[in-house]
Amino acid sequence: MTFAIAIDGPAASGKGTLSRRLAAYYGFRHLDTGLTYRAVAKAMLDTGLPLDDEAAAMQAARTFDIANMHRDVLAAHEIGEAASKVAVMPGVRRILVDRQRDFAATGDGAVLDGRDIGTVVCPDAPVKLFVTASPEVRARRRYHEILGNGGQAQEDVILADIRKRDERDMNRADSPLKPAEDAHLLDTSEMTIEAAFRAARRFVDAALNENS
Ligand code: C5P
Repeated sequence: MTFAIAIDGPAASGKGTLSRRLAAYYGFRHLDTGLTYRAVAKAMLDTGLPLDDEAAAMQAARTFDIANMHRDVLAAHEIGEAASKVAVMPGVRRILVDRQRDFAATGDGAVLDGRDIGTVVCPDAPVKLFVTASPEVRARRRYHEILGNGGQAQEDVILADIRKRDERDMNRADSPLKPAEDAHLLDTSEMTIEAAFRAARRFVDAALNENS
């Protein structure tokens, strides 16, 4: 049985960095499920079809290569926006959730991060974390990240985008963003990544001890 760590949270909460670090530390495989929605969105943008063409989006969801998702290409802002639009379609979610579950079921351990991992994709995961931070803190982090990568941005525009995306992710009918009942909440507004990593490790170590 694969040991799954489910990590959910809103955009720019720090869940991605935390997931990658946990996966490296425990030697587990990692899937950023946001990239799967982004891959479908990119395929739709490339074909020029309307984003709400559910049949075409389902076909893209079935066929993209999950082992070959390029974070640098898929990170583009407009792909993130488009991803949150394709993510409202139940047909697309069904296909991606199946593919994410297949990923979670392979190997000794897996870390999956997204919006619905603890609630829908891996409801039986022995460790569930819900990582949050205030919208202002998340906007500031994203702003510094973009500047650090040599880009340009306006913090107030990022903040408005973050609020819009939160709104869409939390209020959609199918699998809205919310903490699972048994998730540990990790508010990273006032925390360094190092402190968040230590806190997360305590939850994982406790669950690993229980499972052994
Ligand atoms: O996490 P990331 O910003 O890459 O996700 C892009 C979009 O994909 C999110 O805004 C959300 O709408 C969608 N998503 C989702 N369920 C997941 C992961 C991402 O609906 N498990």
